[in-house]
Amino acid sequence: MPDLKTTYMGIPLRSPIVVGASSVSAMVDKIKMAEQAGAGALVIRSLFEEQIKFDTLRLEESLSVGAESQPEARTYFPNIKHGEAKEHLMWVEKARKAVAFPLLASLNAVTPGAWTKYARQLEETGINGLELNVYSVAADTRRAGTAIEKELYEAVEAVRQQVKIPLAVKLSPFYTSVANVAAELDKRGAASLVLFNRFLQPDIDPATESPTSEMVLSGPEELRLPLRWTGLLYGRIKAEIALSTGVHSGLDAAKALLAGATVVQTASAVIKHGLPYVSTMLRQLEEWMTEKGYASIAEFRGKLSQKQAADPSAFERAQYVRLLLAQK
Ligand SMILES: Cc1cc2nc3c(=O)[nH]c(=O)nc-3n(C[C@H](O)[C@H](O)[C@H](O)COP(=O)(O)O)c2cc1C
Repeated sequence: MPDLKTTYMGIPLRSPIVVGASSVSAMVDKIKMAEQAGAGALVIRSLFEEQIKFDTLRLEESLSVGAESQPEARTYFPNIKHGEAKEHLMWVEKARKAVAFPLLASLNAVTPGAWTKYARQLEETGINGLELNVYSVAADTRRAGTAIEKELYEAVEAVRQQVKIPLAVKLSPFYTSVANVAAELDKRGAASLVLFNRFLQPDIDPATESPTSEMVLSGPEELRLPLRWTGLLYGRIKAEIALSTGVHSGLDAAKALLAGATVVQTASAVIKHGLPYVSTMLRQLEEWMTEKGYASIAEFRGKLSQKQAADPSAFERAQYVRLLLAQK
């Protein structure tokens, strides 16, 4: 039986398949199912600063309705304050106590102070590591890429100084130079880069002439983008790589490990098939390893990365020209 054990950001995992941040972490039963199915770890869905701000505003609005109608009313209403991140933090703490396998928290903040404040609070829950979910749509025509990147580096540096637990940064694929951003985050102490965040794209319904947005799950064809960047970056940065997006089978996980990923994260596949599907994926990975004669992951991790592959051009532009010219 091949050995699936690995270490991710210094945390020992019994397998390289991690359940990515998603709705499945909203229920303790599902987190337990992920553990039972053999997942190496699970990332709890993000704490969103914007959600806290929105909820706080809504509470203040609802409390102030009628407060100005009578002078007495001003003192009648109790001084209720929004609990901020309390609900989420309590949830993370509860989850941490319910299972034994490693759990990572995830944070999506917008303002510099919020990144550090909530990172500290999440660390106090006893979580094993923290993932910074960097999800922004750079739509401001006046903001240059350098300014956006600077803000990212400052946030990561600030969080790195504030928390001791291992830090992962979940990145967008839409930087002009993904490789440079990866190297800069590496310098700033990110123990892992999660490649990549998946951006939900709105659609337009021509019948109603209105924009629509729905949660569309990924397909395995989406693996190729993170696969390429994993292959390009493996061995060139110190940070480990968690490949995310499009991992739908044990063979997808094998591809990611061959490209150099330390772990894969999977969300859509477990939402679609249920959490026990993690054990199917692990079995598929084991079967593949047995067939290839690998006893451990270390024997083949990064074998097809650009640094180690016999044909380093596979990940680069040369293939583009060759394939286009071959097309009849
Ligand atoms: C229902 C749902 C909820 C998600 N919630 C989060 C979240 O809270 N934080 C986060 O970083 N990513 C979140 N994601 C994104 C996933 O972690 C992952 O990056 C993305 O779905 C691509 O991986 P996949 O192809 O395995 O689905 C969510 C995805 C889905 C489908």
